[in-house]
Amino acid sequence: MIRPGVLQDTHNRIIRDLRISITDRCNFHCVYCLPETEEAANFYRPNTLDPSKTRPANSNPIYPWKPRSKILTFEEITRITRVAASLGINKVRITGGEPLLRKGVENLVSQIASIDSIRDLSLTTNGTGFPALAKRLKDAGLGRVTISLDSLDRDNFKKITGRDALPEVLESICSAKSLGLAPVKLNAVIIRGLNDHEIVRLAQFAADESVVMRFIEFMPLGTRQAWQRDHVVSGSEIIEQIRSHMPLIPLPAGNLSETSTRWSFGQGTGEIGIIAPVSQPFCGNCNRIRLTADGKIRTCLFSLGEHDLKPALRSEADDIELAAELQRIVLKKEPGHRIGEPDFVQPTRTMSHIGG
Ligand code: 5AD
Ligand code: SF4
Repeated sequence: MIRPGVLQDTHNRIIRDLRISITDRCNFHCVYCLPETEEAANFYRPNTLDPSKTRPANSNPIYPWKPRSKILTFEEITRITRVAASLGINKVRITGGEPLLRKGVENLVSQIASIDSIRDLSLTTNGTGFPALAKRLKDAGLGRVTISLDSLDRDNFKKITGRDALPEVLESICSAKSLGLAPVKLNAVIIRGLNDHEIVRLAQFAADESVVMRFIEFMPLGTRQAWQRDHVVSGSEIIEQIRSHMPLIPLPAGNLSETSTRWSFGQGTGEIGIIAPVSQPFCGNCNRIRLTADGKIRTCLFSLGEHDLKPALRSEADDIELAAELQRIVLKKEPGHRIGEPDFVQPTRTMSHIGG
């Protein structure tokens, strides 16, 4: 039954967190996300880590981006967010693809920041284009930022993302820190054979730079159905590795729906977080839904179906009807993902469509 005034599902979870993908475009081609490049294909084929057998990762990226007419306008996104906020959403993350590729993103930030009940407004970026925009985003009301950083080795960074962009990403981290877009969080997806040898170095970076380094288990979301369990480095293995080099003190969870377990180094403000959706699913406490750039609500990262809000948005439906539609959609949120179960089916959309 629908409970008035809130977004609640049949498993009694109340949704407070809305992740909004504002574009499916990206200027990176991370192997775990958009692996249409030869580099990625070679990685996923056994015994083909030989660089001489690859061509440059971004030499021929062919990807079917959504046409502009299918993409929600900033006004449409703001309207959905306002309606969702009236139903208890208080946390919003702007994602992509790469959200900074969308022109005028700071205008959207300012529109969402002006919704009273949104108390946490953040953005996930791959860190390119950020230094030039950072001040405008902060002035528009952005609270904090998460930047992807899978490697501290320039060549490996390029291999993973398809772009020789490590220096720029490091500059972005500095800008975010100096503007106080805090806590500055960094995301590292760890994949065996690709960047697992950098785990300790990445943790050390968090300690040195006083930032939060979040290690994320590799999830089955990329194209080509490339994911294999052997590629996953579990959260506990990551902790073990770090612990054998530096002290780790567990930190209390901020709230129940926190997806990461957090650890400090016993001194300084740097932290690490472990996000282990594969080995330790946190679906029971999930309080999120996602809005795709083309106006579909996904009630789970691994949903096999989506709910198109565009017909309601682009018709005469008023906010009350839109709210009722959101409530109906959320009610049916699935209990959890089934990664590792025999009946697991990988969704066809990658993270670049869904938003991290
Ligand atoms: N597994 C785990 N994390 C992923 N991301 C993208 N694809 C995957 C995947 N298959 C994360 C990256 C990025 C964020 C937007 O989503 O960490 O920072
Ligand atoms: Fe990488 Fe994010 Fe772009 Fe996907 S959307 S290719 S994870 S930077």
